[in-house]
Amino acid sequence: MIKRMKGTYDITSDIRYYQAIEKQIQKVSRLFNYQEIRTPHFEQQALFHRSVGQDTDIVSKETYDFKDRGGRMNTLRPEGTAGVVRAFIENKLYAEPKLPQKYYYLGNMFRYERPQKGRFREFYQFGAEAFGSNHPAIDAEIIAYAVTLLRGLKLKNVTVHLNTLGDKASKAAFEDALKNHFKDDIEHMCQDCQTRYQENPLRILDCKVDQDKAIMQSAPKTIDYLTKTDQKHFTLVQDYLKAMNIDVIVDHNLVRGLDYYTHTVFEIKVSKDLLGSQNAICGGGRYNHLVETLGGPEVPAVGFAFGIERLVMALKENDYPLVEDAIHLYLLILDDTARLKAVEIAQKLRLGGIITELDYMEKSFKAQFKQSAHHNARFVGILGENEVKENQINVKDQQSEVEETIALDDLYIELAQKLTKQRDDCKDCDKGESS
Ligand code: HAM
Repeated sequence: MIKRMKGTYDITSDIRYYQAIEKQIQKVSRLFNYQEIRTPHFEQQALFHRSVGQDTDIVSKETYDFKDRGGRMNTLRPEGTAGVVRAFIENKLYAEPKLPQKYYYLGNMFRYERPQKGRFREFYQFGAEAFGSNHPAIDAEIIAYAVTLLRGLKLKNVTVHLNTLGDKASKAAFEDALKNHFKDDIEHMCQDCQTRYQENPLRILDCKVDQDKAIMQSAPKTIDYLTKTDQKHFTLVQDYLKAMNIDVIVDHNLVRGLDYYTHTVFEIKVSKDLLGSQNAICGGGRYNHLVETLGGPEVPAVGFAFGIERLVMALKENDYPLVEDAIHLYLLILDDTARLKAVEIAQKLRLGGIITELDYMEKSFKAQFKQSAHHNARFVGILGENEVKENQINVKDQQSEVEETIALDDLYIELAQKLTKQRDDCKDCDKGESS
């Protein structure tokens, strides 16, 4: 038997969690006025080298690269930002009149990582990017957008970790300080760190091999190398978050694993009890020079991305209340004359919005009844030769256990009324997916 590839998975019964999350994404994206954007799953390899960064783990170790039949180098997208920025430039979206230009996306990403709980080689991200404003209030908005999604999903025990890298001058001063700090020890550190020391010292702080060494713990902090303007930006981001009642933990060790960030960086984590070491469910930050680096005009931007699998796992641990997958009517068919009528009725009811299922297996009455229970049917309708002749149907309400005979011409209106009444009676059944 051919099995799925390592690090990939099939979504079967968990699909309802994915759908609940997607519904919430659409709702919150509408509230924050972000518009959906869809970009390709593969791009030119150079796009990721120039944006995510040559020396990052993602690009140096984790990309799926392939040469196509025309000899071009392609890469399966490891993240969404680079593709959205490419699309932003290529489609001249920077000329759109609505400012800032705000987009969200949902799609599969690919990273050749060592699979473990919460870490896959093909995974889903929900991301958002806001282009055009360098104002700290939009950094705060993007964090509020992410937090509001989690509130909508009723996810508890989440913490927002916030830091700043500052802009070019602050980053350069910090990199000098890092070089100075590591200069006497670098030869005892891993090979990757030795390369990073030369090419991109900030990346040393991402090292998984040397992370517990004392020299790492005592490394300089970004906050001490900020220019006055960058410091002010960071203070204002925190003020705006406070105004929205969003609590954050300032963590000066947070640098993120992608090169394009400037100023604000953040991660949202759930407790390790829920997800183990892969407990970052969202990461993001500001990237003021990426549009320009990729050949566009000077346009500041800020964004985030959620890992959907980790969200699903956290929701399951939180006993997220999924709404029962139920149908409105199951039609039990007693003979072939009734089958023709049942098909006709089912189509009419479905067109009117009534979720209808019927027997296609030519099962016994008892077996069909069992099927209606598997489908959680609210109503069961029994249709035989006699009912067709009399133009009526016997309907049982499985909730109230009331049985009645209804003229087929009135079936739609009767069912629709009963279902509307149920909806009205259940105004405060505002749980899970329905919220
Ligand atoms: P990232 O931190 O690389 O950032 O990924 C964001 C989220 O994707 C992570 O917090 C995690 O939940 C999920 N994730 C990453 N790798 C995996 C994996 N192998 N398996 C499962 N989940 C994973 C970015 O991708 C940036 N593009 C975020 C961003 C958007 N920054 C600005 N705009």
